[in-house]
Amino acid sequence: MSTAQITVDPGFVVGPVRRRTFGSFVEHLGRCVYTGIHEPGHPTADENGFRTDVLDLVRELGVGTVRYPGGNFVSGYRWEDGVGPVDQRPRRLDLAWHSTEPNTFGVDEFMAWCAKAGIEPMMAVNLGTRGIAEALDLLEYCTIAGGTALSDARRANGAADPYPVTMWCLGNEMDGPWQIGHKTATEYGRLAAEVARAMRMVQPDLELVACGSSGTAMPTFGEWEREVLTETYDLVDLISAHAYYCEEDGDSASFLASAVNMDAFITGVSATADAVGTARKSAKQIHISFDEWNVWYQQRVESKVPEGDDWPVAPNLLEDRYNVADAVVVGNLLISLLRHTDRVHSASLAQLVNVIAPIMTEPGGPAWRQTTFHPFALTSRHARGEVLRVPVRSESYATAKFGDVPVVDAVATHDADAGEVAVFLVNRSIAEPSPVEIDLRAFGGIELVEAVVLSNPDHTWHATASDSTSVAPRPLDGAGIDAGRLSLVLPPVSWAMVRLRTA
Ligand code: AHR
Repeated sequence: MSTAQITVDPGFVVGPVRRRTFGSFVEHLGRCVYTGIHEPGHPTADENGFRTDVLDLVRELGVGTVRYPGGNFVSGYRWEDGVGPVDQRPRRLDLAWHSTEPNTFGVDEFMAWCAKAGIEPMMAVNLGTRGIAEALDLLEYCTIAGGTALSDARRANGAADPYPVTMWCLGNEMDGPWQIGHKTATEYGRLAAEVARAMRMVQPDLELVACGSSGTAMPTFGEWEREVLTETYDLVDLISAHAYYCEEDGDSASFLASAVNMDAFITGVSATADAVGTARKSAKQIHISFDEWNVWYQQRVESKVPEGDDWPVAPNLLEDRYNVADAVVVGNLLISLLRHTDRVHSASLAQLVNVIAPIMTEPGGPAWRQTTFHPFALTSRHARGEVLRVPVRSESYATAKFGDVPVVDAVATHDADAGEVAVFLVNRSIAEPSPVEIDLRAFGGIELVEAVVLSNPDHTWHATASDSTSVAPRPLDGAGIDAGRLSLVLPPVSWAMVRLRTA
């Protein structure tokens, strides 16, 4: 393998590092809420029933925002069921996940949990079975100080102050035939426009997210965005993108290159949004809320929903176990999100706990980190300041899905005030180490602070409740800097982070 050449220059600024890029997602699905973040009676539970062991891991993960309450769940949700005295809340069928929703956790608990975790809430309204009136009711409940029926109801329920929620998703994946209340692009676009217009009559400065496509493989991808934005352009700020990746039929080469698809997804949606804006002669730019992204093995038994008369409460669902290769892909997807920080203004790793999640819990037992926890936590902690575009000259390799793709991918961030530079890299090669040289001479004097790598000779290793630590980021031996040029060797299937300090 020849040496990959990377240039990091403080002049190549893409835009700011956004805390909202490091968002996540809590849906009423499986054990994400119940026995995930909320488990009254757990040895670590606080007075609200929040697991403090999970709260500690959420803080360590560095999550900026959390989207709630779904997901497919939101398209059948009646938010009123989840507020007021807990013992009077109704149990309901959740059609999305064929489960029973006990409603012992709702909007007030979510907002209290966010405040405790130091997280910005991002809410979704139900545009599947509901519409304008119910969206307005929820907005009033959450954001009006008092003096109206619903704001006073919130106060009576214990929350004197309005909730600090400005980002609102107008429904979820309305392009998907699986969605309760699935709509055509025109039907959804009209409804989203009406809901947005009404919500802005209450709070003009909301940040509203229209539903984009639930994946590039959707037959309506592209045309859906065009039609929805044609209806909503002046009324929304962001359009959503969702993408889940997995290794299919043993095709590791394509799987490790998943970020190529994410790059194309972002570029395609941006171009479509700009085309709509151009046609309208609008100076406004629509941004992207990549509010569901992750590795998800949808065909595995873990994702099989209950059937028939079985409507369990908080079943084990979508509890994927992530290996080292999955973590490398997650790290690479974050690289893609960061390098598009000019267009991607918000993103949510789907999801946060137990359900395709970086954090797992045992009911009554410990909480632990999956492999995917590490690249997210380290990128969130050390990506600071501005994102720098990083030209990479690397060997390519052939993939069945994406053609020839670079073996090495990277992005950098620069915090000029703190004098810190961070470079995030992946080696997508399954078998070969990749030597890398990073040219940092444009910074003048620069020194290496640390280089860490996540890899394992067996990249199928995954963490368990009893061993979540034997594979974790470790120092990358042999990394060294000489006259502004940093040399290192990335092991096969690896994610790495290099931190530097400018003089
Ligand atoms: O995150 C799991 C599910 O994936 C969400 O409920 C839905 O929006 C998407 O299809």
